[in-house]
Amino acid sequence: MVNAMRIAVAGLGTVGAATAALLRRNAPILSQRAGRRLELVAVSSRDRRKNREIDLSGVEWVEDAEALAARPDIDIVVETIGGSEGIARALVTAALRNGKHVVTANKALVALHGQELAELAATRNVALAFEAAVAGGIPVLKTLREGLAANRVYEIHGILNGTSNFILTEMRETGRAFDDVLAEAQRLGYAEADPSFDVDGIDTAHKLAILTALAFGRQVDFASISIEGIRSIDPTDIAFASELGYRIKLLAIARQTERGVEQRVHPCMVPIKAPIAAAEGVFNAVVAAGDAVDKVLLVGRGAGGGPTASAIVADLVDIASGRIAPSFGIDPRHLLPPEPADIGERVGAYYLRLKVEDRPGVVADIAAILRAQGSSLESVVLGGRSQGLPVPLLLTTHDARERDMRQAVAHIAALPSVTETPCLIRIEGF
Ligand code: HSE
Repeated sequence: MVNAMRIAVAGLGTVGAATAALLRRNAPILSQRAGRRLELVAVSSRDRRKNREIDLSGVEWVEDAEALAARPDIDIVVETIGGSEGIARALVTAALRNGKHVVTANKALVALHGQELAELAATRNVALAFEAAVAGGIPVLKTLREGLAANRVYEIHGILNGTSNFILTEMRETGRAFDDVLAEAQRLGYAEADPSFDVDGIDTAHKLAILTALAFGRQVDFASISIEGIRSIDPTDIAFASELGYRIKLLAIARQTERGVEQRVHPCMVPIKAPIAAAEGVFNAVVAAGDAVDKVLLVGRGAGGGPTASAIVADLVDIASGRIAPSFGIDPRHLLPPEPADIGERVGAYYLRLKVEDRPGVVADIAAILRAQGSSLESVVLGGRSQGLPVPLLLTTHDARERDMRQAVAHIAALPSVTETPCLIRIEGF
């Protein structure tokens, strides 16, 4: 057998610790598959005393993670520290510069600096692999890069954040409050260090930027993504969606249009029968649509130690076997520049939740505004009457152009009879 592949793991949080444990637990089968041993040589993390319940006997503990990048006895650096800047970026850059392979779960880093890092890896002839950065345990990057290599991919949509899917599912199934479910997601190791990244759609957008680059052969373009999170969703929306035959999901959508590539992240109502609606709790799902294959659906656990370590170790096996793929599927110097399309051209149906004064003519005023902007009402539900207090008004519309709909909502919000900021949710057919 050839020499062992010598690995260092920087960052022993949920994911780093699970990676170290998996390397040990499945060592014999990993050696068979890679044709050489995968040897964990060193680890680095902030707090040495923390009980991680993993066996690190024979593994060197290094205080300074960045020092791993310069060690001649290390072939691959696994970065599970997180964050787009600071030590994670410095470590990855230094390791690549020193000719070491890098495997990372860091979606923020790849979404913001993926192009320069992929170019660095290409010039040094080493791997920069990040399967774990998108959709946890689902091998979606490999599927796009290899399994769907024959296709012109024209659309990707997916649920890419386990924490927010967990929150939306629990709120619907148990009626639990948002904060309570978020705290549980943190306990289970699903949420980001800063959970606003999860609930505000930023984590989903990081992952979408990576998927878009791979699917459409373009440079990562996080800055152009239109992003909305799930904070404005309330139990009324979830219940009304169920009544109408929908689920509310935080979706990432990328489409090749005639105007360029549309990238957006926002809550959506999707039909309960749509395959993607079946992904509940911490599960993620991705649909890739290609000109030859039609639609492919991938579903699996999108967060947590085991699933994420599964993706990291798969990358390690590939590298140890000599299967070194370009990070974004093609030589990074040949990726096309971004070509963002304005999402104002989206055409689709909408759900609108309003709080209005309970008096005659209110619905007629709203209908008139929508009509003037080229839209029309499909259904209207007025919440229970309550002694002169404002009541919820729930509407769905027929297809309208996003730009017109936003204009209509701005006019509606300015009506004296509308007492709260409206909540607008897109309805996607799929
Ligand atoms: N916070 C992320 C999620 C972790 O909940 O999906 C996996 O990237």
